[in-house]
Amino acid sequence: MTKSPLQIARQGYSPKLPSALKESVIITEGEKTESVADQADIKKLFPNTYGMPVLKFEQGKSSHADKAISVGVILSGGQAPGGHNVISGIYDGLKKLNPNNKLFGFLGGPGGLIDNKYLELTDEIVDDYRNTGGFDIIGSGRTKLEEIEQFDKSLVNIKALGINAIVIIGGDDSNTNACVLAEYFAQKQSGVQVIGVPKTIDGDLKNEMIETSFGFDTACKVYSELIGNIERDANSAKKYWHFIKLMGRSASHIALECALQTQPNVTIVSEEVEANNMTLDQVVEEIAKVIIIRSNKGNNFGTVLIPEGLVEFIPAMKKLIAELNDLLAVNEKEINDLEGNEEKREFVISKLSDDMAAVFKRLPKDFAHQLMLDRDPHGNVQVSMIETEKLLIDMVEARLEELKEKGEYKGKFAAQGHFFGYEGRCASPSNFDSDYCYSLGYTASVLIANGKTGYMASVRNLTKPADQWIAGGVPITMMMNMERRHGEMKPVIQKALVRLDGAPFKALAENRGEWARKTSYVYPGPIQYFGPSEVCDLPTKNKNLK
Ligand code: FBP
Repeated sequence: MTKSPLQIARQGYSPKLPSALKESVIITEGEKTESVADQADIKKLFPNTYGMPVLKFEQGKSSHADKAISVGVILSGGQAPGGHNVISGIYDGLKKLNPNNKLFGFLGGPGGLIDNKYLELTDEIVDDYRNTGGFDIIGSGRTKLEEIEQFDKSLVNIKALGINAIVIIGGDDSNTNACVLAEYFAQKQSGVQVIGVPKTIDGDLKNEMIETSFGFDTACKVYSELIGNIERDANSAKKYWHFIKLMGRSASHIALECALQTQPNVTIVSEEVEANNMTLDQVVEEIAKVIIIRSNKGNNFGTVLIPEGLVEFIPAMKKLIAELNDLLAVNEKEINDLEGNEEKREFVISKLSDDMAAVFKRLPKDFAHQLMLDRDPHGNVQVSMIETEKLLIDMVEARLEELKEKGEYKGKFAAQGHFFGYEGRCASPSNFDSDYCYSLGYTASVLIANGKTGYMASVRNLTKPADQWIAGGVPITMMMNMERRHGEMKPVIQKALVRLDGAPFKALAENRGEWARKTSYVYPGPIQYFGPSEVCDLPTKNKNLK
């Protein structure tokens, strides 16, 4: 690999650790836990891993045996900055416990575990990837581990390699897999432990014990840099409205965080759209209103932030998507056998309820085709493939034309669409993500050494300096509830959506009127890795405003 000067310089960075992890660790146990909802169902499905206590690490003389162990690690789902540091944290943690401990990386995500594709990680390999973005050290994938046959195949491979524990680095769906696997291995009395690590740029894997998922900080800073650059371009040329769709799946955390960092003219928050029961036309009307207000002052330019999951939150669309999800799951083969998109659309219309067929028929054809695309292996709509920014540009343009005809709008409207997602997922991790990920990896190694299973590594108190961070473990069952997936009720980790009563949303709500009328853009610039702490260690607004 030819390394860039930044990569070479970053290799010398030593991630900061919570002080409890710097020496020997003792584990203290909290109260027994309950799942966040549907307790009876979750307890029944996870008899061996339900109800375990929250764990906290403290400095002390550890009493666990230090016989050599082997661990397997899997990167699962979408890339997020810092994954390589989780792996280097696990690696260093294991080697510190016993230099003979081994770490195997399964290749290409959970599929590598089933197909027995792996790589033994060595000093040389790990050193090349320290503090770098990407998941390319072992690759990632989205295979869902849910069939007994997959579990059994995995167990054979695990036993053949003499592996004692598996670490799954993933988002809510992948950690749901981790929980199911931990339960299965416990039920089989296999002696194999499973530990999860909270990853996702989306920021939707969080709760009272998991303050943020790793990668959110870096990804939001990259998108905010790009949005700031676009805002500055808009404010220089004064001729375009920029409609920017941002990744994040269902939750609007990324859009909200970027809005707080860059102060755009319009920010749509899907959770608010749903709470206010808004139609797509109403969302369009809100954007058009801001365009007219600015145009009346001679400002025919601006920026609009759109969370990628918006369509799932418009009540009529939500109902439609729920029907489509079930219908596509049940009729998968028949639909795949149909050749063209139009034939598929007609078939889908014939199967939908009358109400939903009417909604579906009214949608622009391209958009309707995008809604019919395959769901991901976890049953999620692939919202990154739905061009909501283009749909909104077309609808806003049409609405402004109507208003122009009525004499209610006299401005000029020229728009550019953007989608920011993949640009941020493999960025070089910020100092925060470098430290946080390394600490999470190190924490996972301590949980393993202490025989724990069914836990997610947790590092809290994140607004404080790293040596005051609190490391430990949270039972994954604590985060679970029952949800409908692929037409069936399944146990899954509950997603954290934007809370409308939370401080980050309130900060947006207080300021957005002024940001709409005036041009109050903030230009954050690129992430800084070297230099004064006030630029290198800048926390996300989300963390600060908790
Ligand atoms: P996960 O972290 O949940 O795996 O997803 C992150 C994400 O970047 C989403 O924001 C986005 O919708 C999705 O992955 C895109 O998926 P893909 O990489 O398969 O195109």
